[in-house]
Amino acid sequence: MLIFLDTPEIEPLKAGHATGLVDGVTTNPSLIAKSGRDFKEVIAEICEFISGPVSAEVAAIDAPGMIKEGKVLAAIADNVVVKLPLTIDGLKACHALTQEGIDTNVTLCFSAAQALLAAKAGASFISPFIGRLDDLGQDGMELIHDIRDIYDNYGYTTKVLAASIRSAAHVKQSAMAGADAATIPPKIFDALYNHPLTDKGLADFIKDWQKTGQSIL
Ligand code: G3P
Repeated sequence: MLIFLDTPEIEPLKAGHATGLVDGVTTNPSLIAKSGRDFKEVIAEICEFISGPVSAEVAAIDAPGMIKEGKVLAAIADNVVVKLPLTIDGLKACHALTQEGIDTNVTLCFSAAQALLAAKAGASFISPFIGRLDDLGQDGMELIHDIRDIYDNYGYTTKVLAASIRSAAHVKQSAMAGADAATIPPKIFDALYNHPLTDKGLADFIKDWQKTGQSIL
């Protein structure tokens, strides 16, 4: 499964990149606003060291505006993926940009029917929002399962990118449901590898190794 970091913050992205485990990046207007950075500048900076897909979201809400903005964003770097909202205009823009060979990520997906339309529009990625569905008392993970089934039924190549992830359990469940990718906040990335029993076990091994008085080198 591909792992993307859901942040425009350079420091955690560099730290994640250094692990060799991060395949790409996603951003959204709220995350850009929180960063206080210039949007196009920060996307260009990310693309200098991340060679995988980097999602950058349009701000327009009409298809012609989204197409224009999408082309500007796609010109920043070869690996920019244009993120479009799952509206009828977003789907029209997705279709048009796909025809021009531009990669797209259709976001704000909350139903399997929406995901079906995004695949028909040629989306490279569909972003179902798990956490926000869970917040409403619905089952976000069921959506991932449903989309996987539908895409497999028809051989759609649109990648399922589990988004709005709130826990390491969400990542595990997305992987079990067959999501192609998950985009996760940096703190959830850390939660994926941290385990108290790993820390305790390592502390014991170090102590016992010191007792041997040996050295491997
Ligand atoms: O970037 C899209 C998505 O991951 C947002 O997550 O936590 O704001 O629902 P969240």
